[in-house]
Amino acid sequence: MATKTANRIWKGRVTLISLSLLMFAACAKDKPVTIDNSQAVINLAIPHFPSMEMDSDKFITKARAELGKELFFDPILSRNFDISCSSCHLTNLAFTDGLKVSVGTDGRLHNRNSPTLFNVGWHPYFFMDGGNPSLESQVIGPIEEHREMDLPFTEAIARVAADAHYPEKFQKVFDLPVSAYTLSLALATYERTLVSYRSAFDEYYYYGDSLALTNQEKRGLALFKSEALSCTSCHQFPLTTDFSFQNNGLYEDYSADPGRARVTNNLAEHEGQFKVATLRNIALTGPYMHDGSRSTLSEVIDHYASGGSQHPLKSDLIKGFTISADDKAALIAFLESLTDTVSYKKVY
Ligand code: HEC
Ligand code: HEC
Repeated sequence: MATKTANRIWKGRVTLISLSLLMFAACAKDKPVTIDNSQAVINLAIPHFPSMEMDSDKFITKARAELGKELFFDPILSRNFDISCSSCHLTNLAFTDGLKVSVGTDGRLHNRNSPTLFNVGWHPYFFMDGGNPSLESQVIGPIEEHREMDLPFTEAIARVAADAHYPEKFQKVFDLPVSAYTLSLALATYERTLVSYRSAFDEYYYYGDSLALTNQEKRGLALFKSEALSCTSCHQFPLTTDFSFQNNGLYEDYSADPGRARVTNNLAEHEGQFKVATLRNIALTGPYMHDGSRSTLSEVIDHYASGGSQHPLKSDLIKGFTISADDKAALIAFLESLTDTVSYKKVY
């Protein structure tokens, strides 16, 4: 008998404490026990990461994540049935698309570069300007956005509810019909399972494997943490971001995209500030920056070394530095050691 964990009422917030499945099997007397762990709560905990916090009804199960995964790859959520979430967040590119800026339905151009979805479960807010408060509400964004999937959310729900297979699946997984709540929860649950935490850097830095990094990568790490470069002031370990909004001096003129000021309407204090990007899997997620304007890691380092463009809100930490060709290669080698697209597959 499958246990309906989905129906349990959880008090407080679910804190993820160990990367293991907690199985709730109900066994009837004298009958062979079949354990269906698809509805068991997955307690996802990464020893060197902060705990992933979520409301008590948002717990992760294999069944929820699998339903979300199916939706993530399904073009049913786009107006012309031509693109899915995975069109711009490709598994083999650490859930980015390799383009300068994304291309939506009908070939419409976005003005921003597709960010990685690895470790989104830890973000306190979403989009590069923080314009969205939760993973669940974020789902509505790409579905409705003209330059992405361009489908009113109510229509998306109606479509999924009229599908030959989904309603039964939703009922089984959530014990609820297709709705705004269950559709967004399924997708968000899948996204929470996209974790990346066992790169060569992690093996070296957190798990004591002194040979996991080459000497060159170790030198790059030391540079990354050095006072001269200050990378870790914003790209803090372990997530390689502190999630703050910063102006890293890309432009003098941010009229093409004011960043955080798009949300706050406060150009004087927030123009050109973007959420500090994660650098995990950075070797796979180019081109770089909100507009994909830097094609390679070498160009990114040239940007920081130059001290960037003058803008009144540019962070004081972007002050420029001199770096030899050898050190630059070491820094790039370190950044490339942050690649791990495998550990998420172990979640369920
Ligand atoms: C047309 C390409 C495209 C499609 C389709 C698309 N996205 Fe995105 N996604 C983007 C871009 C571009 C951004 C950056 C937008 C921004 O920051 O303003 C983004 C941002 C996000 C973010 C925020 C990440 C962060 O770091 O804050 C999440 C989460 C996300 N997408 C999930 C999804 C889901 C789920 C779907 C399907 C329902 C989807 N995306 C469909 C291009 C796309
Ligand atoms: C003042 C804070 C700050 C400092 C210091 C800083 N960064 Fe960044 N970094 C950011 C922000 C903010 C972004 C996102 C900018 C955008 O989207 O336009 C970013 C983006 C990046 C990106 C591109 C990420 C992507 O997916 O597009 C790379 C690579 C990067 N930084 C590396 C570094 C390195 C290496 C250093 C040290 C030399 C460094 N950063 C120092 C704030 C900072």
